[in-house]
Amino acid sequence: MDNPIPAIAIDGTAGSGKGTLARELARELGWHYLDSGALYRACAYTILLQQIDLDDARACGKAAHDMELEVRFETPGLQLWLSGKDISEQIRTPEVGAASSSIASHPEVRRELLPRQRAARQAPGLVADGRDMASVVFPDAVLKVFLTASLEIRAQRRQAQLKAMGVDAKIGALIQELTLRDQQDMQRHAAPLIQTPDAFLLDTGAYSIEEVCAQVRARLPDSPTPH
Ligand code: DC
Repeated sequence: MDNPIPAIAIDGTAGSGKGTLARELARELGWHYLDSGALYRACAYTILLQQIDLDDARACGKAAHDMELEVRFETPGLQLWLSGKDISEQIRTPEVGAASSSIASHPEVRRELLPRQRAARQAPGLVADGRDMASVVFPDAVLKVFLTASLEIRAQRRQAQLKAMGVDAKIGALIQELTLRDQQDMQRHAAPLIQTPDAFLLDTGAYSIEEVCAQVRARLPDSPTPH
């Protein structure tokens, strides 16, 4: 693959801070932003709506193929429309999160979503976050970052995100949900969550978002100055 448009690949566990870092970095660099998890969530949302069996790989793949999804990554906070209906908030529930992890294990689904993700690589550059950005979608990324944070910290972040949406969730339940999701994402056969050997590992637990961004920016090949 020989693509002159630079991509930064940010992978990591659920709630590790990938989205916050990727959005902020994209803003600072003036680059595009891809939240690949949102595509899996939108796909899970339409599959749940159509009451398709989450274990039926072919039917899930077909739903991914047929999905009429419009994504705007440019606006503050990502916006997604499914067949003309704004589903940006609906895809953030724990139920859709769990379903997205299940359907993401089907190669039939991943195959359908791959071109949509690669199409987001537009000039002047792309910051993409997900689980297989470095290993599968953008293996030629100019910088690969793998984020982690303790389970407790990740659960607290999820709780705060949900609270901002008016949803009260218990820490214990969130820890359980995140543990299950990490297991599913790391143990599946198709494009599991892995840290590639060329990725820079960062534990975000001890740092502010500004510090995390600064550490990542310092590793960019020719360290572009922030806008
Ligand atoms: O990043 P997120 O929590 O919104 O992602 C939701 C699920 O989507 C995640 O549990 C696994 C799946 N996913 C994936 O398999 N590959 C990606 N690149 C992004 C997300």
